[in-house]
Amino acid sequence: MPVMGREVVEYLVHDPSGIYIDGTCGTGGHARLLAESLSGDGRVICCDLDPRMLELAKRRNMEVADRVRHLQCGYQEVADQLGPDDKPIAGFLLDLGISSVQLEEGYGFAFKSDNPLDMRFDPEGSLTAADIINQYPQQELKKIFKEYGELSQAGAISHAIIKARDKNKIETTFQLKSILEPYFNKDRINKGLAQVAQALRIAVNNELENIKKGLRALTELLHSGGRFVVISYHSLEDRIVKNYIRTYSRESGLPPDLEKVLETREFRLQPLFQKALAPTSQEIENNPRARSAKLRAAAKV
Ligand SMILES: C[S@@+](CC[C@H](N)C(=O)[O-])C[C@H]1O[C@@H](n2cnc3c(N)ncnc32)[C@H](O)[C@@H]1O
Repeated sequence: MPVMGREVVEYLVHDPSGIYIDGTCGTGGHARLLAESLSGDGRVICCDLDPRMLELAKRRNMEVADRVRHLQCGYQEVADQLGPDDKPIAGFLLDLGISSVQLEEGYGFAFKSDNPLDMRFDPEGSLTAADIINQYPQQELKKIFKEYGELSQAGAISHAIIKARDKNKIETTFQLKSILEPYFNKDRINKGLAQVAQALRIAVNNELENIKKGLRALTELLHSGGRFVVISYHSLEDRIVKNYIRTYSRESGLPPDLEKVLETREFRLQPLFQKALAPTSQEIENNPRARSAKLRAAAKV
């Protein structure tokens, strides 16, 4: 079962014959569930930046192939790929972050095995983690580790990287790991390295900007009454989703810099519930990777 699969279907599928976009298809777990809950003309348009994930999704979705289409693109740009019959849409799903398959394959997303420092979702993307590590100035590296990894050692580890790369190019996950390990307490090494990986992955894939851009672009595709569900896995992602729903559902009382949104907005949002939902303890027991998930949902009014 994909993360919070039951809740995704419950809050997203309000019209079984509608068109839904799964913006982060991964290996197709949610897409399959959605397709199975549709009837009549209902269909799912899936997109992912990673063609390797889409191949796995196509296999998983073979039995529901008449209802599912797969597109290799960023969800923030999916509108460019849609024909007139694909719009308006009844709902969209974003299950943010990384799939467990990507984490375990040799794409350099984790420090468990030695791989090239890549971290691109799109293998044709122009920037790799190695480019950032070997080329960015120290202040830029520090900012990435501080803002995207929330690392208190951001200054020290960016300095260590600059010193090390003067001697040798840093090309693999194990090379970077050996430079960073001394900066973490022994019992916190894995957590610290996971924060480093998160920071680099966000920077390589421009993830936070894509969420902001994607939420707007996909909401514009929704018909009135259409819904969206977003699952996020850390506070940086969740804050963007929470603020987006809050800004577009308020009637007044926004901070001065956001007041102009109220004057110019073309749609309003209605949150389907106030506090983010978390997985049940049963789900976390079956799938520990779900433990940090937070689900938010809203309707376009
Ligand atoms: C957590 S996984 C999704 C898992 C999926 N819901 C499932 O059931 O298998 C997130 C996926 O989003 C993809 N992704 C990340 N950023 C993207 C973007 N801007 N546009 C499209 N896909 C993206 C990643 O390649 C990854 O496959």
